[in-house]
Amino acid sequence: MDRGCFITFEGIDGCGKSTQIGLLTGYLEERGIDYLLLREPGGTVIGENIRTILLDKKNSGMTDMTELLLFEAARAQIVSEVIRPAVESGKVVICDRFFDSTAAYQGYAKNMGQDVVETLNQLATGGFYPDITFLLDITPEQAMERRAARGEEDRIEKLGMEFQKKVRDGYLAIASESSRIVKIDGARTPEDTFSEILGYLEEMI
Ligand code: TMP
Repeated sequence: MDRGCFITFEGIDGCGKSTQIGLLTGYLEERGIDYLLLREPGGTVIGENIRTILLDKKNSGMTDMTELLLFEAARAQIVSEVIRPAVESGKVVICDRFFDSTAAYQGYAKNMGQDVVETLNQLATGGFYPDITFLLDITPEQAMERRAARGEEDRIEKLGMEFQKKVRDGYLAIASESSRIVKIDGARTPEDTFSEILGYLEEMI
């Protein structure tokens, strides 16, 4: 059985990931390509339970280390239970966020250290990494406008504009060091943004 592929989408909150993922799954469906859509944290029963804890506004007392370890715990579960078996059985797996989120949010924006995050990412994934990652880059101001249209904010979105700026800087730093991560200008129309993404994927899927 040929290996499938593993595609991840990243960016600050409100960057347009959901729209682009919707366009991609529509494209795959039209062509009858078998895919699996997942999100992090989540994607398994255990992971969705961890997600509830992580995003609950009542958990404002959560320490940064608890947060980091919970994201990694959810990741260990989804990689072993779902992502690795699906990719190995030939499926296209799309994940809304993966370990680059931890590098940007916890490593950079919360200053927990890239070395710590990299070690935990390696442990949680067992070295199973995405084939390609799309970083949808927009300014925190543009993202804020989109989030305002979406309604209530979760525990992490509530950290505000300064935090989102740090997350964006973190993403840009990570992207500049990795050939796996493709930076996409997410401020254009959804159609223009998607056609650039498709240009990278057409040979792969
Ligand atoms: P979502 O709203 O895109 O589903 O993501 C949930 C929130 O969790 C979002 O604010 C980003 C944050 N997050 C981290 O801080 N670290 C991580 O490792 C992941 C996967 C998400």
